[in-house]
Amino acid sequence: MKIGVIGTGYVGMVTAVGLADLGHQVIGTDKVTEKIEKASRGEVPIYEPGLEELLNKNLKNGNLTFDPDLEKTIRASDVLFVCVNTPQRKDGSADMTFVEGVSRCIAENLNGYKLIVEKSTVPVRTSFWIKRTISLYKKGDSSFDVASNPEFLREGSALSDFLNPERIVIGAESEKAKNWLIKIYEKYKDKIHMTNIDTSELIKHASNSFLAMKISFINLISDLCEKTDADVELVAQGMGLDSRIGKQFLRAGLGYGGSCFPKDVRALVKIGEDLGLDMSLVKAVDQINKKRIQKFINLIKKALWILTNKRLAVLGLAFKPRTDDIRNAPSIDIIRKLMEEEAYLSLYDPEAAENVKKLFPEDPPNIHYAKSAYQALEKANAALFITEWEEFEKLDLKKVKKLMDKPIVVDGRNIFEPDKMKELGFEYYCIGRK
Ligand code: UGA
Repeated sequence: MKIGVIGTGYVGMVTAVGLADLGHQVIGTDKVTEKIEKASRGEVPIYEPGLEELLNKNLKNGNLTFDPDLEKTIRASDVLFVCVNTPQRKDGSADMTFVEGVSRCIAENLNGYKLIVEKSTVPVRTSFWIKRTISLYKKGDSSFDVASNPEFLREGSALSDFLNPERIVIGAESEKAKNWLIKIYEKYKDKIHMTNIDTSELIKHASNSFLAMKISFINLISDLCEKTDADVELVAQGMGLDSRIGKQFLRAGLGYGGSCFPKDVRALVKIGEDLGLDMSLVKAVDQINKKRIQKFINLIKKALWILTNKRLAVLGLAFKPRTDDIRNAPSIDIIRKLMEEEAYLSLYDPEAAENVKKLFPEDPPNIHYAKSAYQALEKANAALFITEWEEFEKLDLKKVKKLMDKPIVVDGRNIFEPDKMKELGFEYYCIGRK
């Protein structure tokens, strides 16, 4: 079986490399030729631990090749994993233009049976539309199947998520499609959860929205903690001890960002509303999340009163640690708001600074990019922690205090222990605890 992977963004690149590493013959293709050229040279345009090494290994052993020609890739493949992006439209729904375009191209190049696998996050019922599109546009009498195999990888641990999956969800109808996918994932046979296609599509949106709901829930509880003597970290721990709840995704803070949760929560709302359902539970998840930024700005103002001309160290720009991705990162809105207040910002992130620079170019004294956290902290009137990089947990806090103009820390991710910070002489502001 030859596998074509269409779209070499985050999901596509990891899928292509992962499938090749499982021993399959894989061709990756993308309409952005530059991406294909780079990938063919063994370069990964994103920061993802281990990905570049594994890409190079599979380029060398011949399991993986790249080709900018979509039509050629389709014709040369038996199985096609569709990994194109499904961006958010203004009304919250997923834009399926790229999926439709790829489906038409598959139809026009259907030179024998092919299995088309949706890997991108798509609304439930998408397979119906892909099937209809291919049937409408195909010329010969070649048959095909459409299946769903949503991806659950997290940025920053994408490769290990792919290679050590907790579950492989497959939605397929025909026996042939089921058997081919079981063969592709033979190594993880006992992890396969086989369903019909609508179910598989819905599992993805439901999973992401549920995890986002946990985050918004604990953030709401953190607001309650702030109004009382409760401590959100201990509330989360106490809740998490119940295995029915589980301890993960109960970290209160600045809310969720990234390219998945915000988009998927809104898409689920739209899917449900289009089907006439009351989606207010899921809508509230989004609304609570949006309010986190202004709450953080209010916390900074509680610490500093006036922000104009204050020197602020902004630490952590990526939407979460271990990635350089800044899509929907809380840092972006926070920087914008601080600029409106005419504060002087010294920004630092271990990986994401270059990406932020494209949005907010260096412009001293308003915007300055520091080479290290310590440099950002020099003479700062306050330190703002926005992403919980491990590097920040390991900072020498005595040194930090000496470097700063005023030892004020506003921690949007509860990185530090309040008692320890007070003991060291910091004025410490955090989320849902005192
Ligand atoms: C998420 C899912 O975890 C993956 O399973 C899924 O495959 C992926 O979306 C996708 O749909 O492609 P990802 O967006 O990479 O993965 O990041 P997560 O690690 O899930 O974090 C999402 C956001 O939630 C981050 O902004 C993080 O800071 C925030 N978060 C997470 C919290 O605020 N609190 C928590 O307790 C956990």
